[in-house]
Amino acid sequence: IAPDAAWRDEVLELARERDAVILAHNYQLPEIQDIAHHTGDSLALSRIAAASDASTIVFCGVHFMAETAKILAPHKTVLIPDERAGCSLADSITGDQLRAWKAEHPGAVVVSYVNTTAEVKAETDICCTSSNAVDVVASIPADREVLFLPDQFLGAHVKRETGRENLHIWAGECHVHAGINGPELAERAAANPDADLFIHPECGCATSALYLAGEGTVPADKVRILSTGDMITAARQTSAKSVLVATEIGMLHQLRRAAPEIDFRAVNDRASCRYMKMITPAALLRGLRENKDEVHVDPETAARARGAVQRMIEIGK
Ligand code: 13P
Ligand code: SF4
Repeated sequence: IAPDAAWRDEVLELARERDAVILAHNYQLPEIQDIAHHTGDSLALSRIAAASDASTIVFCGVHFMAETAKILAPHKTVLIPDERAGCSLADSITGDQLRAWKAEHPGAVVVSYVNTTAEVKAETDICCTSSNAVDVVASIPADREVLFLPDQFLGAHVKRETGRENLHIWAGECHVHAGINGPELAERAAANPDADLFIHPECGCATSALYLAGEGTVPADKVRILSTGDMITAARQTSAKSVLVATEIGMLHQLRRAAPEIDFRAVNDRASCRYMKMITPAALLRGLRENKDEVHVDPETAARARGAVQRMIEIGK
């Protein structure tokens, strides 16, 4: 199916008939981002899902995001155009593994990144996203131990920012972001000395970027560790003419829309998330035509997870 005018008209008409709001993550294909009613990062989309009046949410993103919407809005119909759109990071910890880890640290506060399954969220005290992880951890009394999961690079960033010694970090990673590495970043930065660096905290290179800044290879004010939504805000504010972007390449579309005069370049142009790209124009149309794939979360699990997700959308507003 070509994402042409007929496709566009049918998608929007079906959405109207079904009283559906279409949400798209910043890593979606450009045509999906362009047709969505709202595009954003995981925190912004969770907030929109919770506040929306629409009776159906069509989530163009990966499965844990649609599950989070269902946890926040249990009475709404939540659809994902292809339920096989998973996440390697969410798969890096199971409910059983988390229960075992908690047993080793009784009394610790569990902070889970939103990239986790509903079962893991049900074992969690507070969820966070990349845009509010530091605020979430800072909100926990300093004398409490914290278990932070599942992303080791985001965990390292939070530990650096909060200076907390009692933060234990799970060794998970996202295969896309872990592949954006320090040597690659250093090489790109050296070739583009005037560029700003926008780096997602899930990246393998986040620590190296700060190291480059620390040794003076890159001016410290040019290195920014940002969630995808915060990259758009930073793009509107910077005076730089070029920006090197270390995250999934779908991000470049919104950045170029936000600041067309800036030359945005991917640090690693192979950093494409195959799960995000399963949401094709054909899948979106099929989903709306057939009311598929409906996302279900067991009501008891959802009830246990809801408090943690609600605390996440409240913090860092
Ligand atoms: P954010 O949109 O919160 O920055 O998350 C990025 C991500 O990897 C989601 O899969
Ligand atoms: Fe998961 Fe990584 Fe894909 Fe984000 S980019 S959905 S963290 S696999």
